Amino acid sequence: MTAEYKVHGDVAVITMNNPPVNGLGYATRTAIADGVNKANADAAVKAIVITGAGKAFSGGADIKEFGSPKATAEPNLLSVILACENSSKPIVAAIHSVAMGGGLELALGCHYRIAAPGANIALPEVKLGLIPGAGGTMRLPRVLGVEPALNMIVSGEPVKAEMLAQLPGQKLFDKMASSAEALQEEAIAFARSVAATRPLPLVRNMPSKHPLGDAYFQFARNMVKGMAKNFPAPAKCVDAVEASTKKKFDEGMAYEREIFTALMFTPESRALRHLFVAERAASKIADVPDDTPQREIKSVAVIGAGTMGGGISMNFLNAGIPVTILEMKQEALDRGIATIRKNYEGQVKKGKLKQDKYDQRMGLLKTTLSYEDIGQADLVIEAVFEEMGVKQKVFEKLDEVMKKGAILASNTSTLDLDKIAAFTKRPEDVVGLHFFSPANVMKLLEVVRGKKTGKDVLATVMALAKKIKKTAVVSGVTDGFIGNRMIEQYSRQAGFLLDEGATPQQVDRAIEKFGFAMGPFRMGDLAGNDIGWAIRKRRAQERPNMLYSRTADKLCELGRFGQKTGAGWYDYQAGKRDAIPSKLVEDMIVEHRKSLGIEPRKISDEEIVQRLVFALVNEGARIVEEGIAARASDIDMVYITGYGFPIHRGGPMLYADQVGLFNVVQAMKRFQANPRDDAQFWEPAPLLLKLASEGKTFS
Ligand code: NAI
Repeated sequence: MTAEYKVHGDVAVITMNNPPVNGLGYATRTAIADGVNKANADAAVKAIVITGAGKAFSGGADIKEFGSPKATAEPNLLSVILACENSSKPIVAAIHSVAMGGGLELALGCHYRIAAPGANIALPEVKLGLIPGAGGTMRLPRVLGVEPALNMIVSGEPVKAEMLAQLPGQKLFDKMASSAEALQEEAIAFARSVAATRPLPLVRNMPSKHPLGDAYFQFARNMVKGMAKNFPAPAKCVDAVEASTKKKFDEGMAYEREIFTALMFTPESRALRHLFVAERAASKIADVPDDTPQREIKSVAVIGAGTMGGGISMNFLNAGIPVTILEMKQEALDRGIATIRKNYEGQVKKGKLKQDKYDQRMGLLKTTLSYEDIGQADLVIEAVFEEMGVKQKVFEKLDEVMKKGAILASNTSTLDLDKIAAFTKRPEDVVGLHFFSPANVMKLLEVVRGKKTGKDVLATVMALAKKIKKTAVVSGVTDGFIGNRMIEQYSRQAGFLLDEGATPQQVDRAIEKFGFAMGPFRMGDLAGNDIGWAIRKRRAQERPNMLYSRTADKLCELGRFGQKTGAGWYDYQAGKRDAIPSKLVEDMIVEHRKSLGIEPRKISDEEIVQRLVFALVNEGARIVEEGIAARASDIDMVYITGYGFPIHRGGPMLYADQVGLFNVVQAMKRFQANPRDDAQFWEPAPLLLKLASEGKTFS
């Protein structure tokens, strides 16, 4: 039973109780329908209240049932809502905290609604690439007015109940409760006051119209087109709400259902639903249960005030956690602090940050040149130069000065975390916290689990990641961890494409058209081509047989490091970021091709996209197989939140699933036959081959 039934005098109260948010799973739906029937059959009951226990009225569909037959088993949500509408005794929805999606649709099927202030009201289906599917697009416009309802449905954003209660002419709430605590009592009293009212009001009988009619919907369509870009759902929201003004109620319901079902099968919705589940899955570590004890993190120290150290510090300041930054020289500290200050001041100027918040954040920031001052920090994050020797010195020192139980983290992007941990006598306290640049903006945080990293350390940093609003994904120790290990293969392909006949601008354009925020060459220019150069030099010693195009090295030999030197794969005008194709670079590539004896060929955009994306997929499959990532969907989270992979494609692994793994393997075989390519490159990963031959998917 996931709803309780209790009679208070002559009012029956049905309380949904399916933690955490009273999701409308099969058992909850059944219990609501049973409760309504029971109340109708009991002569002593004159009215009914439906409410939710704990933290919500109802958050809507039960994500635990996503994709399972239970999700749609009878009584499905539509049937439960119909049962409420048809109840011969009035039903009052008593709403508090959260009424979203199906939860709000259920309330709209009740005869009356009373809400507690502070309740978040939303129809968020659009965020999963869908439209509301249980009458939301038909009923919300009838109670709120077309325009406010459409705004909510298209954005999916929550609005506070008290804001909605102020809309002129609104019929969403018949009454506001004085407080969340008083809600149930006031709902029972209200139910009693309407017990004898007949006929019972039904939202379906109310009109839905906009004074401007078609002109309004034309305007709405134009608005949505701009913001929806790769997603079909927002435009469909407009269609459905328009139908509420033009079709009879039941025809409108059928139309809504038709759109909902069609959207369910779009790759875009599949991608968004996949990422919704993937994000939740990524926060779980199989052998670190939810009740693993955590360490308290009340203060943080950051070593190094460079590009990363500053950004990393800001995350903690934003969350109200004091930070002390340590550097070798005062000048470096001053430079780092000035950058943080400038960043915050920019936000204040744009009105994104209030002055008092700015003062508060800067007030939490301290600097030092001495390790003595950081010994008591609960967490220290090292962000010094990417050289093992430098890291060694820092970690030996940290081992000496940090209090017992402090967590020692490294932001290294490529170095072996187990080696770093071995510089200390407490490797169980060492973990990788790999932030992405700019660290105060990018959502991704790779949590690198060393061989000896303690479970309580992992539990602590995963919880901390949530607190600083990062999407944490756990990676095992490997060169480049999940994201950069895969990007190496992507970059290698980008280089081979140049050797074979493509230009940087053609490669960038093709992959940007696919949906990437930025192609590999524009990206290199932004990040600094010298960074990859340094990494390649190190890798050349470790893996001398790895084949690369030499073009990127030649570019660096010319000093073309990217935007920061005013020239990279592209030319840049002073102070501007527009990438201008470079004749010099093109000549350099042609020259290089000649030296290799390669006859250039025309390469299609399709081939470019496949080679870049399947390079990611193949390495991703190896990473899953080796257990570096716990699941394929973790890789998708990494690529969506850290590498600008197009959201509507759901990440490289889901994309491969959607293309079909058999087709992916076939394409690789075609590339393998390409004599100028590194044939070894396209050896399909064993996991990929296995899944493809069994007709299975990564997900
Ligand atoms: P950076 O060169 O901008 O900053 C490094 C800072 O560390 C400098 O201010 C330097 O003075 C200071 N430093 C060097 N040795 C020190 C020591 N012994 N004690 C105290 N301070 C010291 O470098 P960046 O880009 O911030 O990188 C730092 C780390 O973050 C590296 O391990 C890098 O691989 C990693 N990383 C960098 C990313 C990027 O996009 N720049 C992304 C993710 C990780």
